[in-house]
Amino acid sequence: MSPSFYSHLLSAVGLQDDTKPPPIKPIGCLESGMTLLETVLIAFWVMLPAYVPNNAAVLAGGGRPIDGGRTWGGKRVLGDGKTWRGTAVGTAVGATLAIVLNLVGGDLGASLGVSLPTFPPAVILALPFGAMLGDILASFLKRRTGRDRGAAFPGVDQLDFVIVSLFLAFVAAPGWFLETFTLGVLVVIFVITPILHVTTNIAAYYLGLKNEPW
Ligand code: CTP
Ligand code: MG
Repeated sequence: MSPSFYSHLLSAVGLQDDTKPPPIKPIGCLESGMTLLETVLIAFWVMLPAYVPNNAAVLAGGGRPIDGGRTWGGKRVLGDGKTWRGTAVGTAVGATLAIVLNLVGGDLGASLGVSLPTFPPAVILALPFGAMLGDILASFLKRRTGRDRGAAFPGVDQLDFVIVSLFLAFVAAPGWFLETFTLGVLVVIFVITPILHVTTNIAAYYLGLKNEPW
């Protein structure tokens, strides 16, 4: 009796063929079965709306500071580097980018053979606003720890915006977040973000857009 006949016979009487080994599930950090290249592409794609706001704020910055010049304990609450205009423009640019990615993601993903995530409406705002908020909270911490405007705060500078944008994205759409940010995607984000942050800031410094290379 051939194995397939045996399987058919069993399923015909409503039984399962337990002579067949169960399907092997891929394990490890790329648990969804994505290749490393796909994981990097998805991580970069999904974080783009959080990556551009800070750079847009550098270009748009100026005007009234958020803290209105107020001090706390002899130090500025946030400092002149956090303005309403920079925050609003940064958020708007990031949200616009998320909408553009939603529009082009289907075709681009199909041609690359990768399923690129689509941003739910609340996430379109949560990712860029979270990036701006993370940067603002970092300035608050810098002032409290005696760091003047523009001072480097290694570690915090590179990851502040990622942590808060991921947190707000989770709050905005928990189901989508858990589906999209697999462990592999998160690991890639925490590796590539500091690298991208350092290189873009050095570039902005040499282009004369920023006063410090961090
Ligand atoms: N910027 C802004 N509003 C924000 C963030 C940034 O206007 N919410 C602009 C400011 O002109 C700022 C520049 O972008 O000087 C660079 O941003 P950043 O490096 O974050 O600020 P710093 O000036 O270095 O100040 P801080 O030490 O508080 O980070
Ligand atoms: Mg700075």
